[in-house]
Amino acid sequence: MLDKINALLQEVEQMKAANAEELEALRIKYLSKKGEISALMNDFRNVAADQKREVGKYLNQLKETTQNRINELKASFENVQTINDDLDLTRTAYPIELGTRHPLSLVKKEICDIFGRLGFSIAEGPEIEDDWHVFSSLNFAEDHPARDMQDTFFIQHNPDVLLRTHTSSVQTRVMEKQQPPIRIICPGRVYRNEAISYRAHCFFHQVEALYVDKNVSFADLKQALLFFAKEMFSPETKIRLRPSYFPFTEPSAEMDISCNICGGKGCPFCKGTGWVEILGCGMVDPNVLENCGIDSKVYSGYALGMGIERITNLKYQVKDLRMFSENDIRFLRQFESAN
Ligand code: DAH
Repeated sequence: MLDKINALLQEVEQMKAANAEELEALRIKYLSKKGEISALMNDFRNVAADQKREVGKYLNQLKETTQNRINELKASFENVQTINDDLDLTRTAYPIELGTRHPLSLVKKEICDIFGRLGFSIAEGPEIEDDWHVFSSLNFAEDHPARDMQDTFFIQHNPDVLLRTHTSSVQTRVMEKQQPPIRIICPGRVYRNEAISYRAHCFFHQVEALYVDKNVSFADLKQALLFFAKEMFSPETKIRLRPSYFPFTEPSAEMDISCNICGGKGCPFCKGTGWVEILGCGMVDPNVLENCGIDSKVYSGYALGMGIERITNLKYQVKDLRMFSENDIRFLRQFESAN
């Protein structure tokens, strides 16, 4: 009897099963009512009384070992099963797709970086403004058409609560608080009451730059503009300044760059002229400096403002302005490589 128990014990210790069915077969073979261990249990009756103690001990041990081994094999199958159910080991390790920067954010960052290299630091102001910061301080006459309901969104018909129509308002906000030298670049969203089309929207983005110090001249402005154009577009880019009018600058100018599509030869994009307009600029009107508490006899400054959408269109040839606010993933994905 002891030999039989020993033989079975060895068998059981080396018992293997490839799947749950094989394991069940083993359980039946050893532990079921008609199994080999049960048979030994039945034979136990015939064991001599003086050996019962020892044989009984081994028999129990065999039963226990068998049960343990079966549990062990069962557990290993269960583990494999959960891995198969829950994990797809062929999937990429990092299934979360990364987003990309919006093209307007990319261009805004690039503009700010370029001016940053000239020593400008970023300043921001509120989108909900008052008349003083958007118009009056900037030398807009009382009856200037830009104040008109046609252009400006007033909030609850209050003429003194409005959505800013340009980022020039940040100039006043900074100059009121800080004496020169001032060298700031102000990116932000602006609002105008315009019918939405492929070339106009009721909100868009601008970047304003302002430099106020002793002896700032138009030559300084021109130098900064040329540097910006070459950095933003290409080293071959040329600039041209045309006289213009803005209430807050005197003299004022608009800047064109040589068309970056045809290189200045003339194409449908530049309407055959070889030039495209990109920004407004000028020397800060002394009235604006005085309005903000800066002595215009001691200090002078230049300012410039540009639309981020316009620059982005030039750089990436986006034909329809509405694309920028539609959040169409197929459009946005195209800027992945620029990130
Ligand atoms: N604020 C002007 C606009 O919204 C842009 C502009 C023109 C800003 C000339 C300036 C500037 O600082 O000098 O169209």
